[in-house]
Amino acid sequence: MTILVTGASGSIGRHVVDQLLQAGARVRALTRNPTAANLPDGVEVVQGDLARPETLPSAFENVERMFLIPVPATAAEVVELAKKAGVRRVVVLSSVSAPYEEMYQPGGQYFLLVERAVEGAGVEWTHVRPVGLMLSSLFWAESIRAERVVRAPYGNAGYPHVHEADVAEVATASLLDDGHVGKRYTVTGPEAITQVEQVRAISAAIGRDIRFEELTPEQARRLWSSFMSVSDIDVELMVLEESVKKPTKVRRTFEQVTGHSGRTYAQWTADHAQDFR
Ligand SMILES: NC(=O)c1ccc[n+]([C@@H]2O[C@H](COP(=O)([O-])OP(=O)(O)OC[C@H]3O[C@@H](n4cnc5c(N)ncnc54)[C@H](OP(=O)(O)O)[C@@H]3O)[C@@H](O)[C@H]2O)c1
Repeated sequence: MTILVTGASGSIGRHVVDQLLQAGARVRALTRNPTAANLPDGVEVVQGDLARPETLPSAFENVERMFLIPVPATAAEVVELAKKAGVRRVVVLSSVSAPYEEMYQPGGQYFLLVERAVEGAGVEWTHVRPVGLMLSSLFWAESIRAERVVRAPYGNAGYPHVHEADVAEVATASLLDDGHVGKRYTVTGPEAITQVEQVRAISAAIGRDIRFEELTPEQARRLWSSFMSVSDIDVELMVLEESVKKPTKVRRTFEQVTGHSGRTYAQWTADHAQDFR
């Protein structure tokens, strides 16, 4: 059985590739740029672009299962082609925000479009819906490297960020085992920790002091406005403010699916210490 991994060169997909190989699966990896993808030995690398479905038919040949990253505009066409070629199971990299997209931005669906395309195609499906990734802390890497400081609003906002390898583990289990078909898995990390605690963990991992400088929401808005849209800033500030009052619930999905505990933030900082030095 060949499993096609899209987004194979990305931070989550690369873990899916490694974990499938470890489990002894036959893996085909899709990338737009095979020479830059840096994929491990033992993987069949194919070129293709999810945004251009006409590039994909040969990638689907003899594939039974697929890990699908979200490219909403073409998702329905891509899944239809995949099904025609014999793909029977699709595991979607979605988001915890999928069910709320309608509520926050009418007509602005993204992940939900992909989920619906897969459900509508009549294939076996699992939706992996991570909460925010621990990887988002890399946003602080530049100011930590340059000035040993993190500037952010709502230092006491607690959130159960999830390690990218844990997201991949849930996806890998869903690709390999039959017990996950038709499930929508919200995946969190094992603990909710505040931004101040995150900075402390990064500090411990790199062995250097890092200062947390709390911004007012207005200061954050000014700082972020050069690279974020107003609506993205609104959502980010709202999530942070809510997370001070009521941290997002830690879910046991990861443990239930994999049988072991999820990776902690401290583990993530150890895995990524080099990014902050
Ligand atoms: N729900 C969430 O919270 C959440 C979290 C993380 C990621 N995502 C989404 O899921 C995707 C993967 O996440 P990641 O963090 O692993 O990615 P990443 O590290 O940012 O890398 C992006 C990956 O997506 C692939 N890709 C992008 N556009 C593509 C296209 N048109 N056709 C084929 N491959 C394409 C890239 O492949 P090549 O460059 O090799 O072609 C690369 O492997 C991203 O699109 C991201 O936006 C969602």
